[in-house]
Amino acid sequence: MSAPGKHCPIGVFDSGVGGLTVVRALMERLPLESIVYFGDTARVPYGVKSVATIEQYSAQIVDLLRRRGVKMLIVACNTMAAVALSTVRARAAGLPAIDVIEAGARAAIAGARRGRIGVIGTPTTINSNAYARRIHALDSGARVYSQACPLFVPLVEEGWLDHPVTRLTAQEYLRPVLAENVDSLVLGCTHYPLLKPLLRDVVGEGVRLIDSALTTAELAAANLQETGLAATGEEPVSYRYIVTDVPLRFQTIGERFLGRSLGEVERVDW
Ligand code: DGL
Repeated sequence: MSAPGKHCPIGVFDSGVGGLTVVRALMERLPLESIVYFGDTARVPYGVKSVATIEQYSAQIVDLLRRRGVKMLIVACNTMAAVALSTVRARAAGLPAIDVIEAGARAAIAGARRGRIGVIGTPTTINSNAYARRIHALDSGARVYSQACPLFVPLVEEGWLDHPVTRLTAQEYLRPVLAENVDSLVLGCTHYPLLKPLLRDVVGEGVRLIDSALTTAELAAANLQETGLAATGEEPVSYRYIVTDVPLRFQTIGERFLGRSLGEVERVDW
Protein backbone atom coordinates (compact mmCIF):
# COMPACT_ATOMS: atom_id res chain seq x y z
CA MET A 1 0.00 0.00 0.00
CA SER A 2 1.55 3.36 -1.01
CA ALA A 3 1.70 6.14 1.62
CA PRO A 4 -1.40 8.36 1.60
CA GLY A 5 -0.81 11.78 0.03
CA LYS A 6 -2.01 15.38 0.51
CA HIS A 7 -5.31 14.72 -1.28
CA CYS A 8 -6.31 11.93 1.16
CA PRO A 9 -8.80 12.60 3.97
CA ILE A 10 -8.05 13.05 7.66
CA GLY A 11 -9.48 10.22 9.79
CA VAL A 12 -11.20 11.44 12.95
CA PHE A 13 -12.62 8.96 15.42
CA ASP A 14 -14.64 8.82 18.57
CA SER A 15 -16.77 6.47 20.62
CA GLY A 16 -19.92 8.03 19.15
CA VAL A 17 -21.29 11.39 18.18
CA GLY A 18 -19.21 13.64 20.46
CA GLY A 19 -16.14 13.79 18.24
CA LEU A 20 -18.16 15.90 15.82
CA THR A 21 -17.18 18.87 18.01
CA VAL A 22 -13.63 18.23 16.78
CA VAL A 23 -14.85 17.84 13.18
CA ARG A 24 -16.65 21.16 13.46
CA ALA A 25 -13.45 22.88 14.61
CA LEU A 26 -11.46 21.16 11.84
CA MET A 27 -13.93 22.26 9.15
CA GLU A 28 -13.53 25.85 10.28
CA ARG A 29 -9.76 25.81 10.74
CA LEU A 30 -8.89 23.60 7.73
CA PRO A 31 -11.57 24.15 5.07
CA LEU A 32 -9.52 22.49 2.31
CA GLU A 33 -9.28 19.17 4.13
CA SER A 34 -11.55 16.19 3.50
CA ILE A 35 -12.58 14.20 6.57
CA VAL A 36 -13.69 10.64 7.27
CA TYR A 37 -15.37 10.50 10.67
CA PHE A 38 -15.86 7.25 12.54
CA GLY A 39 -18.25 7.02 15.52
CA ASP A 40 -18.65 3.69 17.31
CA THR A 41 -22.31 4.35 18.07
CA ALA A 42 -23.15 0.68 18.71
CA ARG A 43 -20.65 0.48 21.60
CA VAL A 44 -20.77 4.00 23.07
CA PRO A 45 -20.16 5.06 25.86
CA TYR A 46 -16.46 4.26 26.28
CA GLY A 47 -16.03 6.54 29.29
CA VAL A 48 -17.13 3.86 31.76
CA LYS A 49 -15.41 0.87 30.10
CA SER A 50 -12.16 -0.87 31.00
CA VAL A 51 -8.78 -0.07 29.49
CA ALA A 52 -8.48 -3.50 27.82
CA THR A 53 -11.83 -3.09 26.06
CA ILE A 54 -11.06 0.43 24.88
CA GLU A 55 -7.65 -0.67 23.54
CA GLN A 56 -9.27 -3.48 21.56
CA TYR A 57 -11.94 -1.17 20.10
CA SER A 58 -9.36 1.50 19.25
CA ALA A 59 -7.21 -1.00 17.33
CA GLN A 60 -10.22 -2.06 15.24
CA ILE A 61 -11.07 1.54 14.43
CA VAL A 62 -7.53 2.42 13.36
CA ASP A 63 -7.44 -0.63 11.07
CA LEU A 64 -10.72 0.41 9.48
CA LEU A 65 -9.59 4.00 8.90
CA ARG A 66 -6.30 2.85 7.41
CA ARG A 67 -8.23 0.70 4.96
CA ARG A 68 -10.15 3.87 4.02
CA GLY A 69 -6.85 5.53 3.04
CA VAL A 70 -6.64 8.36 5.58
CA LYS A 71 -3.41 10.40 5.74
CA MET A 72 -3.61 11.29 9.43
CA LEU A 73 -5.45 10.04 12.50
CA ILE A 74 -7.09 12.30 15.04
CA VAL A 75 -8.19 10.70 18.29
CA ALA A 76 -11.17 12.93 19.06
CA CYS A 77 -12.31 10.85 22.04
CA ASN A 78 -10.65 11.89 25.29
CA THR A 79 -11.24 8.46 26.78
CA MET A 80 -9.44 6.66 23.93
CA ALA A 81 -6.65 9.25 24.02
CA ALA A 82 -6.32 8.71 27.77
CA VAL A 83 -5.94 4.94 27.78
CA ALA A 84 -5.29 3.68 24.23
CA LEU A 85 -2.92 6.15 22.60
CA SER A 86 -0.02 3.70 22.49
CA THR A 87 -2.29 1.12 20.82
CA VAL A 88 -3.38 3.74 18.27
CA ARG A 89 0.24 4.73 17.55
CA ALA A 90 1.39 1.11 17.22
CA ARG A 91 -1.47 0.31 14.87
CA ALA A 92 -1.13 3.54 12.85
CA ALA A 93 1.88 2.05 11.02
CA GLY A 94 3.64 5.36 10.63
CA LEU A 95 0.61 7.58 9.96
CA PRO A 96 0.73 10.78 12.02
CA ALA A 97 -1.63 10.45 14.98
CA ILE A 98 -2.64 13.39 17.14
CA ASP A 99 -5.02 13.49 20.04
CA VAL A 100 -7.22 15.75 22.08
CA ILE A 101 -5.26 15.30 25.32
CA GLU A 102 -1.96 16.50 23.88
CA ALA A 103 -3.76 19.52 22.42
CA GLY A 104 -5.62 20.27 25.65
CA ALA A 105 -2.51 19.88 27.82
CA ARG A 106 -0.51 22.27 25.63
CA ALA A 107 -3.27 24.87 25.66
CA ALA A 108 -3.64 24.55 29.42
CA ILE A 109 0.05 25.25 29.99
CA ALA A 110 0.20 28.05 27.41
CA GLY A 111 -2.15 30.35 29.24
CA ALA A 112 -2.17 29.24 32.88
CA ARG A 113 -1.45 32.36 34.92
CA ARG A 114 -0.92 30.69 38.27
CA GLY A 115 -0.37 27.16 36.96
CA ARG A 116 -3.50 25.87 38.72
CA ILE A 117 -5.41 23.77 36.20
CA GLY A 118 -8.73 21.98 36.59
CA VAL A 119 -9.55 19.01 34.34
CA ILE A 120 -12.99 17.46 33.87
CA GLY A 121 -13.77 14.29 31.90
CA THR A 122 -15.32 10.83 31.95
CA PRO A 123 -14.47 8.46 34.84
CA THR A 124 -12.05 6.44 32.65
CA THR A 125 -10.24 9.58 31.50
CA ILE A 126 -9.93 11.00 35.00
CA ASN A 127 -8.93 7.67 36.59
CA SER A 128 -6.17 7.25 34.00
CA ASN A 129 -4.55 10.52 35.15
CA ALA A 130 -3.55 11.06 31.51
CA TYR A 131 -4.16 14.82 31.52
CA ALA A 132 -2.16 15.34 34.70
CA ARG A 133 0.74 13.27 33.30
CA ARG A 134 0.83 15.20 30.02
CA ILE A 135 0.52 18.56 31.74
CA HIS A 136 3.33 17.67 34.14
CA ALA A 137 5.52 16.51 31.25
CA LEU A 138 5.20 20.03 29.83
CA ASP A 139 5.40 21.89 33.14
CA SER A 140 6.42 19.99 36.22
CA GLY A 141 5.37 22.88 38.47
CA ALA A 142 1.72 22.94 37.35
CA ARG A 143 -0.97 21.88 39.84
CA VAL A 144 -3.74 19.74 38.36
CA TYR A 145 -7.12 19.17 40.01
CA SER A 146 -9.30 16.56 38.28
CA GLN A 147 -12.96 15.73 38.52
CA ALA A 148 -14.99 13.05 36.75
CA CYS A 149 -18.38 14.30 35.54
CA PRO A 150 -20.20 11.14 34.37
CA LEU A 151 -23.63 12.75 34.13
CA PHE A 152 -22.57 15.39 31.60
CA VAL A 153 -22.50 13.03 28.58
CA PRO A 154 -26.15 11.88 28.91
CA LEU A 155 -27.29 15.42 29.76
CA VAL A 156 -25.68 16.80 26.60
CA GLU A 157 -27.09 13.99 24.47
CA GLU A 158 -30.51 14.77 25.94
CA GLY A 159 -30.04 18.32 24.68
CA TRP A 160 -30.18 19.80 28.19
CA LEU A 161 -27.50 22.35 27.46
CA ASP A 162 -29.14 25.12 29.45
CA HIS A 163 -31.33 23.25 31.89
CA PRO A 164 -31.62 23.69 35.68
CA VAL A 165 -30.69 20.03 36.22
CA THR A 166 -27.47 20.47 34.22
CA ARG A 167 -26.66 23.70 36.06
CA LEU A 168 -27.09 22.06 39.48
CA THR A 169 -25.05 19.06 38.36
CA ALA A 170 -22.25 21.35 37.15
CA GLN A 171 -22.28 23.32 40.41
CA GLU A 172 -21.99 20.10 42.37
CA TYR A 173 -19.19 18.60 40.24
CA LEU A 174 -17.17 21.79 40.01
CA ARG A 175 -17.33 22.85 43.65
CA PRO A 176 -14.15 20.96 44.72
CA VAL A 177 -12.20 22.09 41.65
CA LEU A 178 -13.23 25.73 42.08
CA ALA A 179 -12.31 25.56 45.77
CA GLU A 180 -8.71 24.99 44.59
CA ASN A 181 -8.75 28.40 42.94
CA VAL A 182 -7.96 27.11 39.44
CA ASP A 183 -7.23 29.63 36.70
CA SER A 184 -8.06 27.27 33.80
CA LEU A 185 -10.52 24.43 33.31
CA VAL A 186 -9.82 21.84 30.59
CA LEU A 187 -13.01 20.47 29.02
CA GLY A 188 -11.60 16.94 28.75
CA CYS A 189 -14.49 15.24 26.97
CA THR A 190 -15.93 15.56 23.48
CA HIS A 191 -19.35 16.58 24.82
CA TYR A 192 -18.33 19.39 27.13
CA PRO A 193 -17.75 22.17 24.54
CA LEU A 194 -21.54 22.21 24.11
CA LEU A 195 -21.85 23.16 27.77
CA LYS A 196 -19.51 26.13 27.47
CA PRO A 197 -22.11 28.88 28.03
CA LEU A 198 -23.49 27.12 31.14
CA LEU A 199 -20.01 26.29 32.48
CA ARG A 200 -18.94 29.89 31.93
CA ASP A 201 -21.75 31.00 34.26
CA VAL A 202 -20.84 28.38 36.86
CA VAL A 203 -17.07 29.01 36.93
CA GLY A 204 -17.22 32.80 36.46
CA GLU A 205 -15.19 35.07 34.18
CA GLY A 206 -11.91 34.53 36.04
CA VAL A 207 -11.46 30.91 34.90
CA ARG A 208 -10.27 30.17 31.35
CA LEU A 209 -12.23 27.36 29.65
CA ILE A 210 -10.04 25.19 27.43
CA ASP A 211 -11.93 23.68 24.54
CA SER A 212 -9.91 20.71 23.32
CA ALA A 213 -11.81 20.68 20.00
CA LEU A 214 -10.37 24.07 19.01
CA THR A 215 -6.86 23.29 20.22
CA THR A 216 -6.88 19.93 18.41
CA ALA A 217 -7.71 21.69 15.13
CA GLU A 218 -4.71 23.99 15.70
CA LEU A 219 -2.45 21.03 16.43
CA ALA A 220 -3.70 19.26 13.28
CA ALA A 221 -3.00 22.35 11.16
CA ALA A 222 0.56 22.57 12.50
CA ASN A 223 1.15 18.83 11.99
CA LEU A 224 -0.11 18.93 8.37
CA GLN A 225 2.31 21.76 7.63
CA GLU A 226 5.24 19.99 9.28
CA THR A 227 4.61 16.71 7.51
CA GLY A 228 3.89 18.34 4.12
CA LEU A 229 0.48 16.64 4.06
CA ALA A 230 -1.77 19.74 3.92
CA ALA A 231 -4.39 19.66 1.13
CA THR A 232 -3.74 22.10 -1.71
CA GLY A 233 -7.35 22.79 -2.70
CA GLU A 234 -7.04 21.06 -6.08
CA GLU A 235 -9.42 18.23 -5.11
CA PRO A 236 -13.06 18.76 -4.04
CA VAL A 237 -13.56 18.61 -0.26
CA SER A 238 -15.63 15.67 1.01
CA TYR A 239 -17.01 14.71 4.41
CA ARG A 240 -17.96 11.11 5.16
CA TYR A 241 -19.45 9.71 8.34
CA ILE A 242 -19.25 6.06 9.36
CA VAL A 243 -21.11 4.60 12.35
CA THR A 244 -21.73 1.14 13.79
CA ASP A 245 -25.40 1.46 14.86
CA VAL A 246 -28.39 2.50 12.76
CA PRO A 247 -27.62 6.12 11.86
CA LEU A 248 -30.87 7.82 12.89
CA ARG A 249 -29.88 8.97 16.40
CA PHE A 250 -26.38 9.89 15.21
CA GLN A 251 -27.89 12.06 12.49
CA THR A 252 -30.31 13.87 14.81
CA ILE A 253 -27.88 14.53 17.66
CA GLY A 254 -24.92 14.94 15.32
CA GLU A 255 -26.36 18.02 13.67
CA ARG A 256 -26.40 19.73 17.07
CA PHE A 257 -22.74 18.86 17.62
CA LEU A 258 -21.68 19.78 14.11
CA GLY A 259 -23.78 22.92 13.75
CA ARG A 260 -24.78 21.92 10.21
CA SER A 261 -26.50 19.05 8.42
CA LEU A 262 -24.53 15.83 8.13
CA GLY A 263 -25.49 14.46 4.74
CA GLU A 264 -25.06 10.77 4.15
CA VAL A 265 -24.06 8.44 6.98
CA GLU A 266 -22.73 4.95 6.31
CA ARG A 267 -23.18 2.05 8.70
CA VAL A 268 -20.57 -0.70 9.03
CA ASP A 269 -20.62 -4.01 10.87
CA TRP A 270 -17.45 -5.29 12.47
N1 DGL B 1 -16.12 10.56 23.62
C1 DGL B 1 -16.01 10.36 25.04
C2 DGL B 1 -14.89 11.24 25.60
O1 DGL B 1 -14.50 12.23 25.02
C3 DGL B 1 -17.31 10.66 25.75
C4 DGL B 1 -18.42 9.67 25.45
C5 DGL B 1 -18.11 8.26 25.93
O2 DGL B 1 -18.07 8.01 27.16
O3 DGL B 1 -17.89 7.40 25.08
O4 DGL B 1 -14.35 10.94 26.63
